[in-house]
Amino acid sequence: MLISSKIYEGINGNIKIPGDKSISHRSVIIPSISNGTSEISNLLMSKDVLHTLNAFKQMGVNIITNKNITTIYGKGLNSLKKPDKPIYLGNSGTSARLLTGLLSSQKFDTILEGDKSLSKRPMKRITDPLCIMGGKFENQSGTLPIKILGNELKNIQHKILIPSAQIKSGLILAALNTTGKTQIIEENITRNHTEIMLKAFGAKITTKERMSGSNISILGKNELTSKNISVPSDLSSAAFFIVAALINENSKLTLENININPTRDGILRALQKMGAKINIKNERFVNEEKIADLNISHSKLKGCELDGSIAKLMIDEFPILAVAASFAETPSKFYGLKELRVKESDRLELIRHNLENCGIYCEIEGENLFINPGKKFELKNNIIKTDYDHRIAMAFAVMGSKLGNDLKIEDEESINTSFPNFFENFNNAGGKLGIHIE
Ligand code: S3P
Repeated sequence: MLISSKIYEGINGNIKIPGDKSISHRSVIIPSISNGTSEISNLLMSKDVLHTLNAFKQMGVNIITNKNITTIYGKGLNSLKKPDKPIYLGNSGTSARLLTGLLSSQKFDTILEGDKSLSKRPMKRITDPLCIMGGKFENQSGTLPIKILGNELKNIQHKILIPSAQIKSGLILAALNTTGKTQIIEENITRNHTEIMLKAFGAKITTKERMSGSNISILGKNELTSKNISVPSDLSSAAFFIVAALINENSKLTLENININPTRDGILRALQKMGAKINIKNERFVNEEKIADLNISHSKLKGCELDGSIAKLMIDEFPILAVAASFAETPSKFYGLKELRVKESDRLELIRHNLENCGIYCEIEGENLFINPGKKFELKNNIIKTDYDHRIAMAFAVMGSKLGNDLKIEDEESINTSFPNFFENFNNAGGKLGIHIE
């Protein structure tokens, strides 16, 4: 059990945030099906990414990690070998959806399995469009485990109605090994790391942004060429420290090399709208991804309203945004959060449940979340329920750094799925022990 206690001296210093999780998954997948050697620096070595890495090792790709460099020896679009046993993906939804797409157009069958939480998450959102392409799956229950029957797929024109980068990326990866041109129309813009990286690896992919969405076209059967990648630090992980610094007095924090890709930067825009002092410096591009350094200092926050369009650009950040909103001077309303129901947990419900336990008025109306921060926090129960969701655990560890009472956070080991050094970083920045395991 993780105990999170009040921090008196603020959150200070220069914290090294680990590599971006989304970019890390793609930095294993894309080099593994390219031709040549790719050296990946700053790859996130969290459980989720290690599951993707082990999946490709199981499919015969030679991958060697030495200190901060992972070398991947790719042998082309059709070089993967049939794994000799099911591929276990733990808690990682990104691995499950992206690999389902990629493996549906390979020449062999694969079984994908996941942990208890991943085995409850919807897979039909990716298998349904793949079936239109001719994809074949055994076990259509809509969840893992799933048997993918590798097949020659046909190209399609498909409109994705659910805002999901995992669905989009799964379809793009399937299309890479498909004859002809596949066109994907996404109704809503979602993170575009797959498209950016594939372009850099020489894929015949074009993207055209529309008002709120984008059109993507991929010409398949075109071999990719290896490239070195430097993975930037993850804004989704940085967000926990940003909010910790904003809500704790005497805080001054620097975070360097943070990915601020405009399809991911909603949390910065939302916090700035709430009055957060976040200075974005040294904007630059590395591997076509936008990165910057951030200076954050303690700020008086006010509440805000966010419409559903920004939700797609910060879908993983609502647990920590809800914590920020709990310490604002006025209420907040966040719209269009339906997708939070199908994350590593039912995040919408867990945010409500845990905020209410911390004495904060919080209501769910349909797919919207309303938070009315009280002047006084009357803790009802100090146990934070996480359902093994890493982002709920980290968000409420930050909550604990500001509350007078200790919070007891369940299943703290879930944090290793995305941020292995979270405790150490937090305690170093907090000046004195803010969180510990009991
Ligand atoms: C991710 C996409 C998002 C996000 C997840 C990572 C990705 O999921 O929540 O943590 O790397 O493509 P959805 O595509 O389901 O929105």
